[in-house]
Amino acid sequence: MPKRFTRTLLISILLLAGQAMAAPPETEWTCRGCHGQKGVSSIPIVPNLACQQEQYLINALLAYRDGRRIDASMSAATNRMLTSEIEALAAYYAHEACPK
Ligand code: HEC
Repeated sequence: MPKRFTRTLLISILLLAGQAMAAPPETEWTCRGCHGQKGVSSIPIVPNLACQQEQYLINALLAYRDGRRIDASMSAATNRMLTSEIEALAAYYAHEACPK
């Protein structure tokens, strides 16, 4: 294999891997309608999520899911969520959705 081709191939794989990492978790589409693209809300009563602390987001989502924090929209959004899905969303909003 020519060197140039190998290098182009490697760069393409790295770029694709980078894109895959930045992709939102599967459940993110359910949040987008209220919390906006990448967690920046345009609805005054809906908070921004982008760049919030990851652990805070996990705690908040678990509290809604488990009924320790009550909000009709958020209880409905989280009541069937696995802890692993909540952790993935928190990591996404805290890091990937946060402009560097
Ligand atoms: C129907 C609209 C709606 C949907 C869908 C929705 N949210 Fe919310 N979310 C809200 C509102 C309104 C609040 C503020 C509730 C309150 O005062 O406790 C909120 C609050 C939150 C908070 C707490 C923020 C803070 O600063 O304490 C988090 C975290 C959150 N949402 C994440 C999500 C995630 C993740 C999803 C998708 C799984 C989602 N929300 C789906 C409307 C929505």
